[in-house]
Amino acid sequence: MTRGILITGGAGYVGSHTVAALIEWRAEQDYEIVVVDNLSNAHRENGQKKPEPLRIIEEMTDKTIQFYDVDIGDRDGLSKIFEKHSIDCVIHFAALKAVGESVQKPLEYYQVNITGTCTLFEVMRKYGVYKLVYSSSCTVYGEPERLPIDEGHPTGRGLTSPYGRSKYFCEEIMKDLCTSDQKWMIVSLRYFNPVGAHSSGRIGEDPAGTPNNLMPYISQVAVGRLDELLVFGDDYPTADGTGVRDYVHVADLAQGHLHAVRLLADPTYKGFQAINLGTGTGYSVLQMISAFEAASGRKIPYRIVGRRAGDIAANYADVSLAQKLLGWRATRTLDDMCRDTWRWQSINPNGFKKS
Ligand code: NAD
Ligand code: WQD
Repeated sequence: MTRGILITGGAGYVGSHTVAALIEWRAEQDYEIVVVDNLSNAHRENGQKKPEPLRIIEEMTDKTIQFYDVDIGDRDGLSKIFEKHSIDCVIHFAALKAVGESVQKPLEYYQVNITGTCTLFEVMRKYGVYKLVYSSSCTVYGEPERLPIDEGHPTGRGLTSPYGRSKYFCEEIMKDLCTSDQKWMIVSLRYFNPVGAHSSGRIGEDPAGTPNNLMPYISQVAVGRLDELLVFGDDYPTADGTGVRDYVHVADLAQGHLHAVRLLADPTYKGFQAINLGTGTGYSVLQMISAFEAASGRKIPYRIVGRRAGDIAANYADVSLAQKLLGWRATRTLDDMCRDTWRWQSINPNGFKKS
């Protein structure tokens, strides 16, 4: 049986770009791509078997993706997949990710992000699958004590949302797993701020409702779906007073996952390792607006309002460990991020939905 890579949440934003990258890479590697996603935050058109991002990737590559509409909390559903496919490695994206919503719905967030994740780990263990790439977040660092943030920076301190805590708790659970059994091989990728879209313009970020994050908000203003951007605070201790973040192109992130899968193929790899994925450079909200205006040729009307609760002034990654352990670094520029986001948004003003 062909070896498979199981991708949970593979119909979502980062997951679908990683599936696309894996398929290009698979040409050499001959892995079967198996996606599990319950479509809670992904779109499937009526009458289609597969969610739109996967259907489009299949169309672009002429390759087949095995897809299962299964919840990661469904032990029996997951077991059937592990019985049917010879899974070698799991990339675990599936999670709920809206920071504000998690404050309102902590149980739902802990249920999916922690209980669901533990169910996945139990099923992996039952089928003897111990290689895991986990989607973590810079959010685990909380308010930075130093910049750039390296992986040795404390985690779990002063986290302000159940979402952030769920990512931190999962990392602690994975460390405990590795202590309990040396067979586990886990890479936890701490993404900074993923933005951008596939260079084809056919897959990209498609948030449900009004976007919470800066880049999709700006691009929906640019395309005319929203009137103006609200800039949350201009009194931070940063060069222009607005928040600074390390934005990283989703196609670079996707490549980072391929490098992590390769690292796990090394039989001498052991235990748990957290690795930052960012560019190492921070840009302010105002710099993001200017860069997007330049890339799109559209004016982005904006208004400065008060700070958003729970926001930090600035964060950006120390990316030297990713370079050292994964041989990976982000290559795409801020202009690439804005141009690719705009290509996706302008070709698909309503995201994946046809109308
Ligand atoms: P996304 O919402 O686009 O993708 C997540 C996918 O998981 C969706 O397709 C959703 O339908 C699926 N899913 C959710 N709950 C599920 C469940 N119970 N069972 C099966 N599938 C389920 O989010 P994304 O931006 O692609 O994020 C992917 C991962 O990266 C998440 O774990 C997120 O916490 C992490 N992350 C994201 C960001 C970011 O800003 N996008 C930053 C850091 C970390
Ligand atoms: C970026 C900057 C805002 C929207 C979030 C999660 C984090 C991680 C990445 C998952 C900030 C400002 C934003 C708007 C604005 N996700 N902003 N107007 O807050 O760094 O991180 O995504 O793990 O956990 O918290 O990203 O894109 O929301 O904000 O002024 O309408 O843009 O204040 O300075 P953030 P973001």
